[in-house]
Amino acid sequence: EAIEKGGYEHFMLKEIFEQPRSIADSMRGRINTTDATLLLGGLGSYLDKIAKTKRIVIVACGTSWHAGLVGEYLLEELARINVEVEYASEFRYRNPIIKEGDIVIAISQSGETADTMAALELAKSKGAIILGVCNVVGSSIARITHAGVYTHAGPEIGVASTKAFTAQVTVLTLIAIAVAQKKGSISDQLYRELIFGLDAIPAKVEKILKNADKVKEISKLFTFASNFIFLGRGLNFPVALEGALKLKEISYIHAEGYPAAEMKHGPIALIDEDMPVVFIATKDSSYEKIVSNIQEVKARKGRVIAIVTEGDTLIPKMVDFTIEVPRTNDLLLPLLTSIPLQLISYYIAVLRGRNVDQPRNLAKSVTVE
Ligand code: G6P
Repeated sequence: EAIEKGGYEHFMLKEIFEQPRSIADSMRGRINTTDATLLLGGLGSYLDKIAKTKRIVIVACGTSWHAGLVGEYLLEELARINVEVEYASEFRYRNPIIKEGDIVIAISQSGETADTMAALELAKSKGAIILGVCNVVGSSIARITHAGVYTHAGPEIGVASTKAFTAQVTVLTLIAIAVAQKKGSISDQLYRELIFGLDAIPAKVEKILKNADKVKEISKLFTFASNFIFLGRGLNFPVALEGALKLKEISYIHAEGYPAAEMKHGPIALIDEDMPVVFIATKDSSYEKIVSNIQEVKARKGRVIAIVTEGDTLIPKMVDFTIEVPRTNDLLLPLLTSIPLQLISYYIAVLRGRNVDQPRNLAKSVTVE
């Protein structure tokens, strides 16, 4: 097992550090920067069908559901298709409105999650075209779907998903760009910016990981927290949800993820000097808004850790700690902002003496209802 961990203390840490490669592997052979092309062979003629549809339903559980929320935002923004993201377990137990020819996409690392599989079977029985974004080749979900795009994250051993999540987001970004290109709903300039932007992501993730020691130092100061709030807007909202889930899963600290503006409708009541609040506050279109959300938390003495864009000079003056991520196109931010949150959860859990690779009560793949 020590050999399998490749010198890392835990599989989770190894998998976090593998992300420059797993993201690159999930793009390899699919994007080509020489002639700025994008090819998703696994979708074949289904790409046409997605481009023609009026509605896509994404079904998933857990971390994969969070990746689905990122996918929703990207498909709506780039391809202008209405997307709904459903918990597979909820979808299957109502009478979902699915018509012949509707597109249902399942996202699943293992490809074996019982609820996701059952949701797909139901959708298929109603005549839907079912597609998969799976990590495990030949898994049940990969086999039942009409077509799909594999994530090439490699085997994920740690129960808390890390590299599978960023691989899912990578593949969903590729799908959204491909569909948008097919539909003609993306400008040439944005298309090229995204292709070249994606190509640069692995090196940027590497740069964030080089700073892991700083994240570890910050994490030390929060080891004894009993609650955490994670806030983000737009594409960084699902990242906030994922950050909170990760912390809950492995450190057993109660954490909530919220859209930053929604904070004033509830969570703000929880904020005092003992409440750590993680803001994902990159320089994107909601920057000004999130700065005012940070002010609201600081006015109530919350302790703020902010994930900021490299070179930001304003937010570091307002908050307790900052962790920088490199610049990228706004639409690619989740691939960067999720990394420091994985590290925060990991270090806090280790410092609390938790079994990070096999947290209590959780299973890598939930194959029962
Ligand atoms: C379990 C795992 C999670 C995972 C979820 C969905 O709860 O612990 O890490 O996100 O199942 O799994 P899937 O294999 O379908 O992505």
